Amino acid sequence: MFIRSDQAGPIYQQLYRRMREAILRGELQPGARLPATRTLAEDAGVSRNTILLVYDQLRAEGYVEGHVGAGTFVARELPDDVLRPAPRTARVDEAAPPPLGISAYANRARIILSPVAAPSAANLRYDFRYGLPGVAEFPRDIWRRLLARQAKRFSSETSRYADPAGLPRLRQVIAEYLRRARAVDCDESRVIVVNGSQQALDLIARTLIDPGNRVLVEDPHYLGAREVFQAAGARLVPCPIDDDGLDIERAPKAAGQARLAYVTPSHQFPTGAVMPLARRLALLAWARKSGAYVIEDDYDSEFRYGGRPVEAVQALDTTGQVIYVGTMSKTLFPALRIGFLVLPSPLVKPVLAIKHLSDRHTATLQQSILADFIGEGYFERHVRRARTQNARRRAALLDALARIFGDKVVVQGSNAGLHLVAWFRDRPAVDTARIVDAAAAGGIGVYPINPYYLSEPPSAGLLLGYAAMSEREIDAGIRLLGRVLG
Ligand SMILES: Cc1ncc(COP(=O)(O)O)c(C=O)c1O
Repeated sequence: MFIRSDQAGPIYQQLYRRMREAILRGELQPGARLPATRTLAEDAGVSRNTILLVYDQLRAEGYVEGHVGAGTFVARELPDDVLRPAPRTARVDEAAPPPLGISAYANRARIILSPVAAPSAANLRYDFRYGLPGVAEFPRDIWRRLLARQAKRFSSETSRYADPAGLPRLRQVIAEYLRRARAVDCDESRVIVVNGSQQALDLIARTLIDPGNRVLVEDPHYLGAREVFQAAGARLVPCPIDDDGLDIERAPKAAGQARLAYVTPSHQFPTGAVMPLARRLALLAWARKSGAYVIEDDYDSEFRYGGRPVEAVQALDTTGQVIYVGTMSKTLFPALRIGFLVLPSPLVKPVLAIKHLSDRHTATLQQSILADFIGEGYFERHVRRARTQNARRRAALLDALARIFGDKVVVQGSNAGLHLVAWFRDRPAVDTARIVDAAAAGGIGVYPINPYYLSEPPSAGLLLGYAAMSEREIDAGIRLLGRVLG
């Protein structure tokens, strides 16, 4: 039991008041056994006689029963006159700012974070929720074996404070993988292990953004990125995208003053557009001219279903202005909370200083399992299998959409990733909420495209994730959606 001295009166009276309060507030329930006097005396740093005095007084007033030696219990029936409800604190209005004030940063974060309204998963028979990879094909037996091995070893690698940059072994296998699979120009000295790409974005924002600085974002864009930049006090410069992703030539004039641009060139989030080489080179030329950094968020490029693989923009960068961000959330599972950054050399030290202040380092047991998982070849084998499975799910979704909706729905962004966008071209953007609500009432989770835009979307549109569903569920879900929407 936690006993805090309130500094008023002799110590035994302070303790007596605290315990009486705990009994009246129900923190100590009727019938509950009180700690032994000796234990409580040790915990509170007082003599055992003091505790005996406290218990005696509580007993005399009817708050506790029993005797020293036989145990002391909270009385089952408390004295009538004290049975008044004593609310611990007044009800807090959660929408109001905390009364004693919070920092400007916290206030921005509090206001920005309005979660996207989404139907409760519990009421959905078919949930096309975006962002979840399939769990069925995850090699859990292998993961469990590697976890058990590391836990058993409990080596200095996994039990002590470690380098904020991450375990050297993990950084090395990530660097090898990125060079091989994404042509990323890196060695382990510039690879930093982080708690998901969300932390990567936060670290970059803290490293590069002061309130009032401009940040170029795609419109539409990933909310997790927008929110980080807004919390940092950035002024967003939205740049329209088309079927080839971001076109820097069409960026507003203010883009010239941007410190940073955030892009998803390999599979634009959320539209899925793939940025062709000419636009990538134009983006890099813009970065050089305006002295800005480019964040390349390469969140799901492991899953490509056709066309030529596109190498990372970072691979084309000759001036050290691209910050590459990757994650294990789509290839493995999001609760793992492991992602990675490949930084231009001058940013390594400042980012590591902030990472150290923020959380010392990412949990090393998880890192060591992942290092084994990648290093022993399981990761790439799993990605290959998951890609095949996801390709089937994607085909099932495309097939069902074409069958049920015909030319009423235009699909965008289906050649990579774990989601696509279904545009209802003949319905205005404001209709999206109606479609989402009608679907939810019919037990189908579909997600509006609107929250990802700062401007008005071109028409009603839905974000449909498919990787966490079976082909049968996908087909049945779209058939039901067709019936629900008439
Ligand atoms: C564009 C984009 N980047 C990154 C992520 C992954 O974030 P994290 O690594 O923090 O789980 C997602 C997941 O939804 C995403 O859509």
